[in-house]
Amino acid sequence: MKIILFGPQGAGKGTIAAMLVEKYRIPTLSTGQVLREAIAQKTKLGKIAEQCINKGNLVPPEIAAGIVNEAVKKEEFKKGYILDGFPRNLDQARLFDEMDKVDFLIEMTIPRELVMRRLTGRRTCRKCGAIYNIDPLCAPHPKKAGVCDKCGGELYQREDDTPDAIKKRLSIYYSETKPILDKYRKKVITVDASGTPEDNFNRIVAVLERKKGSQ
Ligand code: AP5
Ligand code: MG
Repeated sequence: MKIILFGPQGAGKGTIAAMLVEKYRIPTLSTGQVLREAIAQKTKLGKIAEQCINKGNLVPPEIAAGIVNEAVKKEEFKKGYILDGFPRNLDQARLFDEMDKVDFLIEMTIPRELVMRRLTGRRTCRKCGAIYNIDPLCAPHPKKAGVCDKCGGELYQREDDTPDAIKKRLSIYYSETKPILDKYRKKVITVDASGTPEDNFNRIVAVLERKKGSQ
């Protein structure tokens, strides 16, 4: 099963991707996470990405497409995968057409007022990328403050989770990313993602199972 997870910043794409990986035993690829790792490792790609990401801008389409193209050729991606954060505009969607076809695009929707809350409280593990939140109304909370439950790594706040960068990212989502839904319309599954991660996960799995059964 090949899936695109789609939705505004803070919809919970990364959170749900990790849960779907456990359930379906297929890999996930977050272009954002690959770019953050490149920045941390100070590679050539990281230096280009840093200038775009921290201001909330997209990296050039051929860079994002290059990351995905390399991944989907791998053996472990052959029987299925979950894409998180790609494609994000029509140029990327066109480049992706030349690489592969997905079965479903899951559009996760949340009200705008939840976005700020989820993103300002987000903490991410520097070592394994696991996602947490310190806001009492968001989830999941790390068992020990500042420490990853899964690997013991340090939790940090993403550089692009500042109010200015969040505003920029959201405006790009609504102007450039959301319009590509039309291109995938026959494959789109829209899910309300304002509930708990478990509720959202159960809702997504229920639809996927139904759709898979009728394919
Ligand atoms: P990327 O890393 O993809 O970030 P994003 O699209 O801005 O999305 P987020 O990661 O902010 O949101 P999410 O939906 O994954 O939410 P999460 O699960 O963390 O991209 C970053 C940057 O990289 C881009 O701005 C761009 O510069 C560059 N880039 C990446 N891909 C690119 C591409 N294809 N082309 C060009 N440039 C690209 O959840 C958010 C928080 O809420 C977490 O703390 C979580 O614990 C909490 N939470 C999640 N679900 C729930 C829930 N149900 N209830 C309560 N809390 C919840
Ligand atoms: Mg994410």
